[in-house]
Amino acid sequence: MSKSPATPAVDSIDSLTHALQGVGYHAPRRLATAVFLAMKLQRPLLLEGEPGVGKTELAKALAKVLGRPLLRLQCYDGMEQREALYEWNHTAQLLHMRAAQSTATPDEIEREVYQARYLIRRPLLQALQTPAPGAVLLIDEVDRADEPFEAFLLEYLGEYQVSIPELGTISAVAAPLTILTSNRTRDLNDAVKRRCLYQWLDYPERERELAIVRSQVPEASNQLTEQVSRFVSRLRSQPFSNAFQRGPGIAESVEWAKALVALDTLTLDPEVIQDTAGILFKQREDVAALLPLLDQLLAPEPV
Ligand SMILES: Nc1ncnc2c1ncn2[C@@H]1O[C@H](COP(=O)(O)OP(=O)(O)O)[C@@H](O)[C@H]1O
Ligand SMILES: [Mg+2]
Repeated sequence: MSKSPATPAVDSIDSLTHALQGVGYHAPRRLATAVFLAMKLQRPLLLEGEPGVGKTELAKALAKVLGRPLLRLQCYDGMEQREALYEWNHTAQLLHMRAAQSTATPDEIEREVYQARYLIRRPLLQALQTPAPGAVLLIDEVDRADEPFEAFLLEYLGEYQVSIPELGTISAVAAPLTILTSNRTRDLNDAVKRRCLYQWLDYPERERELAIVRSQVPEASNQLTEQVSRFVSRLRSQPFSNAFQRGPGIAESVEWAKALVALDTLTLDPEVIQDTAGILFKQREDVAALLPLLDQLLAPEPV
């Protein structure tokens, strides 16, 4: 396996943070450090956190910053190896067999149809075969897949290689920068965790969320952007957070700010919040829980 050449733009944690910011991703220092180490040590990085805290977006931003192709595997319950790794192109194999039947022996035909050209490459295999400096492979929401699938990932995660019965072991041309994400709907297998660096992603602190909303909704006034990030950050903190099943993520803050601009809102008030609560919360119970708290949430902060 060849070493990925260091990309000049990201040879330190600071320059990585800066480069990510350049493509619109605001990374806290701890996260940038984890990514930097994952690249240096060539280890997969497992990101866990609530939905909407920027796990998937990080992989996309990294691919942009590094100028590497992004390969994405969206996990789900019942996902099979052939969707992750490869499958044989049966139609093409059949056509080949028909054509060869008159001239070749069955053994010859079998050897011929199990050649790489009849292979349909899925993200994992594509990642292994991407030339240096390698791909960014996003294995998204791995907690949705089942345990056999996690077991199947071990060889890839530990050695950047996979075994294909008909073709043998395929090793990475260049270590793919591999990002796994989990919304933590269940605990992942220890064997998977051991092979990865780990980073928990929290909701952003208010300043970072402010920066994100500001850059994604530049048409919102400073005052409105500040009110939005203050309000959302309060929703997510004690004692208010206890009232809700699922707090709003960054995407919801951004969308809310856009909606408020669309409604020509100058300043937050209970009425406009009620009218737009369906952007912040996607559960009926959470919307209902919000309404009685509005006055407290909007009250000036104690100094
Ligand atoms: N650190 C960040 N910087 C800029 N935008 C962010 C950041 N984190 C999240 N976002 C925004 O929030 C949206 C949701 O993030 P996403 O990565 O899909 O969340 P997750 O995968 O953790 O559920 C993104 O599309 C992006 O617009
Ligand atoms: Mg995601």
